[in-house]
Amino acid sequence: MLTSRPRGTNDFLPGEIEKWHYVEAKIQEICKEYGFIEIRTPIFEHTELFLRGVGETTDIVQKEMYSFTDRGDRSITLRPEGTASTVRAYFEHKLYAGPQPVKVFYVGPMFRYDRPQAGRYRQFHQFGVEVFGSKEPSVDAEVITMAMDLYARLGLKDLEVQINSVGCPNCRPIHRQRLQEALQAKLGELCETCQGRFDKNPMRVLDCKNPNCQELTTDVPTTTACLCDECGSHFEQVKEYLDVVGIQYVVNENLVRGLDYYCNTAFEIIAKGIGAQSSIGGGGRYDGLLKDVGGQEIPGIGYALGLERIILTMENQNANFPPKGGTEVFVASLGQAANKLSFDLIYKLRKAGVSAEKDHLNKGLRAQMKQADRLQASYVVILGDEEINKGIAVVRHMYSGDQEEVSLEKLVDFFRYNKV
Ligand code: HAM
Repeated sequence: MLTSRPRGTNDFLPGEIEKWHYVEAKIQEICKEYGFIEIRTPIFEHTELFLRGVGETTDIVQKEMYSFTDRGDRSITLRPEGTASTVRAYFEHKLYAGPQPVKVFYVGPMFRYDRPQAGRYRQFHQFGVEVFGSKEPSVDAEVITMAMDLYARLGLKDLEVQINSVGCPNCRPIHRQRLQEALQAKLGELCETCQGRFDKNPMRVLDCKNPNCQELTTDVPTTTACLCDECGSHFEQVKEYLDVVGIQYVVNENLVRGLDYYCNTAFEIIAKGIGAQSSIGGGGRYDGLLKDVGGQEIPGIGYALGLERIILTMENQNANFPPKGGTEVFVASLGQAANKLSFDLIYKLRKAGVSAEKDHLNKGLRAQMKQADRLQASYVVILGDEEINKGIAVVRHMYSGDQEEVSLEKLVDFFRYNKV
């Protein structure tokens, strides 16, 4: 073998990929109902976009980006998340000039250089939505509702929505000052990364994964305690809208999320019982990000859900995946003439919209029947010299075991109209 796959990446093989198709189909379905249109942006962007978009004091920028210099001497980064790219595309294509709000979604691979473990990968997949152009708390509640609706449709249980408000540029400095005052005495005990963040962005300390830092920050001032009137009212209204549709949530005053762009609403969805990587989605409002990236002040909010973690949770909770879609018709043939005829038959069946397969290994009849079983074929067509001479084929109904003879001329129509 030449090599194995890079650490932290996955191959999704037949047997597994059907689960992905199922989840992706549900995503398409729900996006249509909630009025989100798909957007596809490049897998890589100029590094600058993430430095400014995600924030220089975040774990993502400091430790996790796949950045390289391309042959044209530009610094390029594999996207670690989808929001910054979507904001860039919104401005680049002047989507702000059309009717607002603009509601888009994306599904695709993201890249973060982190220590791989169950539910945490270096290449992983997100489904994300972004809404641009509205500051209204009803939009915040709508995106949280949509996320929970998707999980419910996928049959997920035991989830917890945690919400918080991280304030705005008016009230954040007050929190920042109070937090710095509270942490000053403990500064030497914080991890090295947090010590480095203390001046630039002390709120990031609340998000540190180091257990010692988490312990040291249990009783420091929270963002919610420092909200200005406008932010306080916004937060209250988001909760009221969630109450209207009966979405349950808990307020987690320590939730600041791992990205710098958030203001006001921040939320995360936690799946109980899937181990350490229990955040199966998260998001929030980012009214300042659009100005940072595009120069215009336009509000935005969104979330992203990790597909690997969703599927992992579905498996852990024995959620229902649909049965694997088997081949409809397997054509078993014996002899040269039947082989050619079966090749033509599967071509015509496929053109008629019937999924069909044949043997390509010159197997005997018994082995071909076994293959049909493995493919979960609904029908097997048996073709040999004798059948060809009589102008018929034997059709076996695999569920009942019944057999019947069908004339070769009518065979394609037989399956076209008997579609399983
Ligand atoms: P995030 O919390 O960094 O937010 O990622 C969202 C979700 O992606 C996580 O809840 C998790 O399910 C999944 N995820 C993150 N990292 C990994 C990993 N290494 N392996 C597997 N799954 C992972 C964002 O990315 C924001 N862009 C969300 C957002 C959109 N906020 C506003 N709009």
